[in-house]
Order: sequence, then structure tokens, then C-alpha cells
Amino acid sequence: MSFGQLFRTKSLDALVGETEGEGRQLKRVLGPWNLIALGIGAVIGAGIFATIGTAAGGQTTAPFRPGAGPGLMLSFVITAVVCGFTALCYAEFASMVPVSGSAYTYSYGTLGELVAWIIGWDLIIEYAIGNVAVAISWANYFNTLIGTFGIYLPKWLAIDYQTGHVMPEVVAVAPKIFGFPIIVNIFALAIVALITMVLVWGIKASARLNIFMVGLKLLVLAFFVIVCIPAVKVENWTPFAPNGWPGIATGAAIIFFAYIGFDAVSTTAEETRNPKRDMPIGIIGSLIVCTIIYVIVAAVFTGVIPFPELRRLLATEQGEPLTMAMQYAGQSNLSIRIVAFGSVVAHTAVLLVFQLGQPRIFFAMARDGLLPKGIAKVHPKYGTPHVATIITGLVVGVAAMFSSLEDMVNLTNIGTLFAFMLVCIGIIILRIKEPNRERTFRVPGPAWGIPLIGALTCVGLAYYLERSSWTRFGAWLALGLVFYFVYGFWNSRLRHPRPADVPPTPPTFKE
Ligand code: ALA
Repeated sequence: MSFGQLFRTKSLDALVGETEGEGRQLKRVLGPWNLIALGIGAVIGAGIFATIGTAAGGQTTAPFRPGAGPGLMLSFVITAVVCGFTALCYAEFASMVPVSGSAYTYSYGTLGELVAWIIGWDLIIEYAIGNVAVAISWANYFNTLIGTFGIYLPKWLAIDYQTGHVMPEVVAVAPKIFGFPIIVNIFALAIVALITMVLVWGIKASARLNIFMVGLKLLVLAFFVIVCIPAVKVENWTPFAPNGWPGIATGAAIIFFAYIGFDAVSTTAEETRNPKRDMPIGIIGSLIVCTIIYVIVAAVFTGVIPFPELRRLLATEQGEPLTMAMQYAGQSNLSIRIVAFGSVVAHTAVLLVFQLGQPRIFFAMARDGLLPKGIAKVHPKYGTPHVATIITGLVVGVAAMFSSLEDMVNLTNIGTLFAFMLVCIGIIILRIKEPNRERTFRVPGPAWGIPLIGALTCVGLAYYLERSSWTRFGAWLALGLVFYFVYGFWNSRLRHPRPADVPPTPPTFKE
């Protein structure tokens, strides 16, 4: 093993060319509106419906965290700007390398195999662990929703093991095997299983379902804003930042979760009709739309509940923040039920896009030989990467039954910020290494401008996340390196090249 082999890169032409092999092509069925809808579908979910409360109010028990208060509006803008820098870098990458795999694939062509592996491994945190968090949150809201109809699951089936095993009222009713309490979040597993089936069935059907759900969740957020506006009191916005900069910055680090997903659009490049044009439109368009929506919702949310009251409610009630604000505003049960239902739909749309993205990253890594090649199979009838999709479903579904939401959100944020930082660095390197390669979309300005600021601001945001999430993330990366040196390094297709890896001419993409 030589040091240089760790940094072997794939040529970008080879990256594009290898997607053309027999039985390895995905169907090109997506256009720009599908992509924007996919982006919004991935982005608006647990972040705005669930983490908005804790980001605005802070954490009143250990580990303590200051809340942003009405300054959360500014937190959303700050995080959007950080994501915007990365979104521009993603768009430049995606417009140059229109293949499946997201940041993993782009970095394989630029930063070398070891870094690509690290990013691919890291993206498992963004997609799969992120989806574990969303599935847990989905189940919480689904339980709340059916609760409004008087239907309740036994407690040991409605909560994850990590949270439930320290709650005496849950342990008391849980069945035991050899004295060990059985506590599982069964709805979290059920929704992941259902979505996995939809995705194996086909991407076109999934994209249609997504557009329907995106429309519905936008309507429900608009409904929340319209019915709550009469209860907004301007005086609730002062003081604007009750905890100063620390409150706003930690708020920004947490609600980063609400933005995760705009990059998922780039993972469907192989299924996009005109990736060079539509990718930048899809990624940046969805980011802009979501930012406008978030700031409006944050303004209404913090305008309805005064800051001290919000802290009191968060400490004493287990409610969903938006429905909590509606209750505070004296809204009817029906209105609250509508928003609770919208929350469930929004979570479903996020789950769909992430469960769509993760298998495509596994797929790309398997095609490169870094994971076993059976994972890169495409279903003969549906044209979907069914093996990778089912593996993702199993991993996410099982983890969602047992893990806590808080831990999963923190881990997802740090992992994703790390991946975004590497994407920004990738753009700098690519501008230097391949300055003349065609870019249908360019990040404005020099490589040392926006891409460098993007990388630095990602680290800056991660700085405000809990220390324990840094430790967990370090452990995850270490585990990934063990995997790489035991399997990926020796089985890489760059180590055992086949003629198909180097196509004679760069392929073109047609409408
Ligand atoms: N941005 C996604 C959400 O908020 C992960 O659910």
C-alpha cells in the first residue's frame, strides 16, 4: 500500500461514462420542477415543525442551551446564507458531474479515494441518521394526531428504547424477556417500511407522490401563518435577542437541521433529463423558497408566544411547537388537527427524499468497489437500485425504533456540516486542477471567495453544536476508516480497472 494510492482519483469522464453500462442505468424521468419539489420535499420537515421550539426557547435542563427568542428569524437567515454558499458549490459540482452519488462522487473526481470514502461514509449520517431523526419525529406526531381521535398505542410501542427505558411508567407496562423490557417505536419502523416499498416500486411514482405532499405541507404552513397572525403581538419581538449572540448562534446551529436536504437533489442527477441546466435550478430554487417560508413561520411563532412563556411551556409540556403556539393563540381543535396532520405529511415527504438519496450513494460506492458490488444492482422491471434501497430501509427502520430524536438531530447536523465543508474545499481544488472543464454553472467570483467562506462558515456553525456530538462524530469517522482499510481500499475499481472505466469520449446528455 503506498501513500499515493489513498489519493487516487477517478477522471470525471470516467465517472459519467460508467453510468452507461448495461443494466446499470437509471431511468431519466425528472425535470426542473420535479427537482425543486424534491428539494422542498427534503427540506421542510422535522426542522420547522419540531426543532423550531427548542431553537427559539433553548434547553432548560442539562445540557443547558440559551434560546434565540425572536432572534430565531435572524438565525434562519444566517443558516440560509451558510447553506447558500454550499448550495452554490453543490450546483457547480452537479453541473459538471451529472452522475449519481452526491458529494461522494464529486469528491472522488477531485480530492481522491480516501476523502471520497470519508464523505460517502459521512453522508450516511446526513441521509440515514437524519432520516432516523425524521422517522422518530414522524411517529411522535402521528401518535399525537391519532390521539386527537382518541386512539392510543400502549406506551412501550410508542417510544424509542433510549428515551423509554428510563421512564418508570413505560418500563412498568412493557413486556419483558428475561427481565429485559421491550420498548420500541413501532410507527417509526412502519413508516420507513412503507416508504421503502414505494421507492423500490419506482422513482416516477415517488416523485409524483412527493409533489402532492409538498403542495399539502406548503398549504398547511400557510394555514398556520394565516390563522395565527391575528394573535401576533409586536411587543413579543422585544427583546429581539434575549440571550444575545450565543442564543442566536446556537439557534442557527440547531435549525440547520431544517435546511438539510437541498443537496439531496443532486443525488438524482442520473435520473434527471437535463442535469446540467436543471440541477442548479433545483438546488438553489428550493433553498430560496424554504428560507422565505421559515422566516415567516419563525416571525409568527415568536410573535404569538412570549419568550419567557415559551421556556415555561417547553419545560412542562411535550407538545409540537406549532400546535403549541396555536393552542396558546386559542385556536380550535380542528385547526390544530389540520396542522398536526400537515406535520405528518411534511415528515413523510422528507423521509421519501432521504430514503431516495441514501441508496443512490450506496449504489455509487458499490459501483466503485468500495462496498460489495451486489448493492449496485438495478431492478430489471422498475429500474430502481432496489438492493441499496432495501438495505437503507432496514438500517433506518431498525435504528428509528430504538434511538432518541435529540441525539440523532445533533449527530446529523455535525456530519452534514462536515460534508458541506469538504464540498466547498472540493470546488477550490477543482478550479485549480481542472480550470478549463466545462461548467454550465459557476460559483460567482474566485475559488478563494465564496467556496472558502462556505467552508469556514460550516465549521463556524458546527462550533455551536453540543460537544458530545463532536465526540460521536469522531467515533463514526474512525469506524469508517477501519472499514475502508479492511475492504474498500483492496476492492476499489481504481485498483482493478476495467476497460469500461475509461470511455474514449465524454458522453453527452440529451433532453
Ligand atoms: N430538513 C429536514 C427536516 O427538517 C431534514 O426534516
